[in-house]
Parts: sequence; structure tokens; C-alpha cells
Amino acid sequence: MENMNWSDLSFGYIKTDYNVRCYYRDGKWGELEVSSSEIINIHMAATCLHYGQESFEGLKAFRGKDGKIRVFRMDENGKRMQASSRGIKMAELPVEKFEEAVRKVVKLNERFVPPYESGAALYIRPLMIGLGAQVGVKPAPEYMFMVFVTPVGPYFKGGFKPSKVCIMRGYDRAAPYGTGTIKVGGNYAASLVAGEIAHEKGYAAVLYLDPKEKKYLDECGPANFFGIRGNSYITPQSHSILPSITNKSLQQLAEDMGLTVERRPVPFEEIATFDEAAECGTAAVIAPISQIDDLDENKSYVIAKDGKPGPVCEKLYHKLRAIQYGDEPDTYNWVTVIE
Ligand code: PLP
Ligand code: COI
Repeated sequence: MENMNWSDLSFGYIKTDYNVRCYYRDGKWGELEVSSSEIINIHMAATCLHYGQESFEGLKAFRGKDGKIRVFRMDENGKRMQASSRGIKMAELPVEKFEEAVRKVVKLNERFVPPYESGAALYIRPLMIGLGAQVGVKPAPEYMFMVFVTPVGPYFKGGFKPSKVCIMRGYDRAAPYGTGTIKVGGNYAASLVAGEIAHEKGYAAVLYLDPKEKKYLDECGPANFFGIRGNSYITPQSHSILPSITNKSLQQLAEDMGLTVERRPVPFEEIATFDEAAECGTAAVIAPISQIDDLDENKSYVIAKDGKPGPVCEKLYHKLRAIQYGDEPDTYNWVTVIE
């Protein structure tokens, strides 16, 4: 791509050449179709529009020093999309079909995969929607799965620079045994009010507490949470958080570095004891947290006193990126080279 300022990309939408689509009709998935249109034409009574039958995924492709394009753990995204389908009664897409669609859309839009030096990536956005004219509240008869891509830079301004997050007990992104563990659009709609308040007050994100008791840490609006204390990597276990593929990978890398991984309910007061804390996710990668403000209790927990990422976050960040960009061996088979 000529004229593209790759290093200045933010996390936004840029038109690319192609997307791929696949329809579920009469009880089965059809063939993948390639489209160059950014528009989808659907019935006004489609269930995705009225009853939120919609799920999505997010993953990335990276261009290595060797020029090769690598996609990170797409089988995990394929499996999570199946879990989302089960959670809101949509048709399940076979993981092989998911992977075929990802390969195809990345290959077709190869010229949009940012160069190695830019530190940017190609964001891959699969989504599934319920189609067909229906007014009763029941699962749709037909579904559409599609994948588009767009080149992106950092999700949070400043990238790998610590930022502040806040706690507000008046808002939840998901119910205690609701849809928090799956990736459906409704969770994100539910996070918009609190997200906007947080942004207006100068916070990068909301750190949600568990919706049942407000005792434990859940996760941030668009990313999981972890804290580092001494030799431990501590991350919440909860019925209302999304199982992050980045977090799962970091837990493995942390163990490999000799850290102890604690995945358990984390009482929110424990943040006072963390040496480091961060958000993690595909878009966020690792976004270190400098300070957590509890807006209800009027209390501030300062984590990064010098405003810099801590040494463990730093190490994990570089390790993860090195695997994703192909700078270090992919010992866990996390990466698919797109040929
Ligand atoms: N939590 C939420 C609510 C998210 O939207 C995301 C983004 O996908 C994550 C966590 C991180 O998940 P992953 O690492 O699989 O991208
Ligand atoms: C991701 O990290 O891929 C996400 O989906 C987070 C956000 C953009 C919703």
C-alpha cells in the first residue's frame, strides 16, 4: 500500500479490498463467498436487529521481518465463536470453516497487512448475525457469517503506556450468569454508558466488579485484567468475563518465565497490593494500568508510581509480540503462516 502512514494508524476502520461471507440456510452452511462490497442487505425483521442475535470475534495478522504473514491462535477464536453461538442459540460454524474464512480474507487483503517495522497489525473481525423475517422472540431460521479486515494501530492512545482506569458500581456489562462469557454485541452496548462517563473523566476504561456481589474484580470493558504481585500473575476467575485468548497465552508465558499463575476470584481490595496491573486482549495487547480510581469510595490506588510499565508487563509484552511477529520460535503452535 503506497501512501499509507502505517506507524500512525489508530484502532479505526479503513476500507480494504474484500470480505468473505457464508450463509446458513435449510440447516446447513454454504460455501464461502468473496465480496468487494462493504454493505450487507438484510431484512428489516431480522433477529439480529431486534433481539440481538449477533456475535463477533477479534484477532490479528502480523507481518514478520521475513515478510511472512502470521495469524495468532485462530482456532481459539473459532471455538469461542461456537460458544457464543450456543449462548444465544445461533447456528454453530465449524472451526475449519472459520479458519478457511480467516485465511482467505487475509490472503485477499495481503496488501493491507502493515509492514513489520510499523508495529501495526491487520485486525480481523468475524461476525455472525441472525437473518430471516421474524417477529416472535425465537432463534432465527438463517444466519450469515462474515469476516472483514482493517489495518490497526494501538487500541489505547499511547499504546504500551500506562493509563488510568476506574471502578463504578452503578454499571454492569453483563449479568452474573448472563452473556459475559461470550462475545455478543449486547455486552458492548451495555458498556457504552459507563465507558463514555469514564472517557469524559479521563480514564482509558472501566474496571468492572463482579455483578452479583461487587466484591471481586471482573474485567475491563474491552479486555481482561491481570495483576502482578511478587512472583505471581493474578487474574480473575468469574462467571461474567470473556475468556481472553491473550490472557490464556500470557498465563502460559508467565509460567514459562517461572511465575506462579493464580486464576481465582480476586477481591477488589487486593489491587492495593499489586506491583503491576494491566488490561490484556487482542486489541489492547497489554495495556498497563497506572492507577485505579474507585469513584464510589473516592479512593485511588496508584500502581505505576513512575508512570512506566512494570518489568513483568514489559517482559510479557515483548515475549508475546515476538511470537506473534515471528521473531521467536512458536513453541506452542499458536501461529498460522498464511501462504
Ligand atoms: N474481554 C472483553 C470484554 C473483550 O472484548 C476482549 C476482546 O476480545 C477481551 C476480553 C480479550 O480477549 P482476547 O484476548 O481473546 O482478544
Ligand atoms: C478485541 O480485543 O479484539 C476486541 O474485540 C476488543 C474490542 C475492540 C471490542
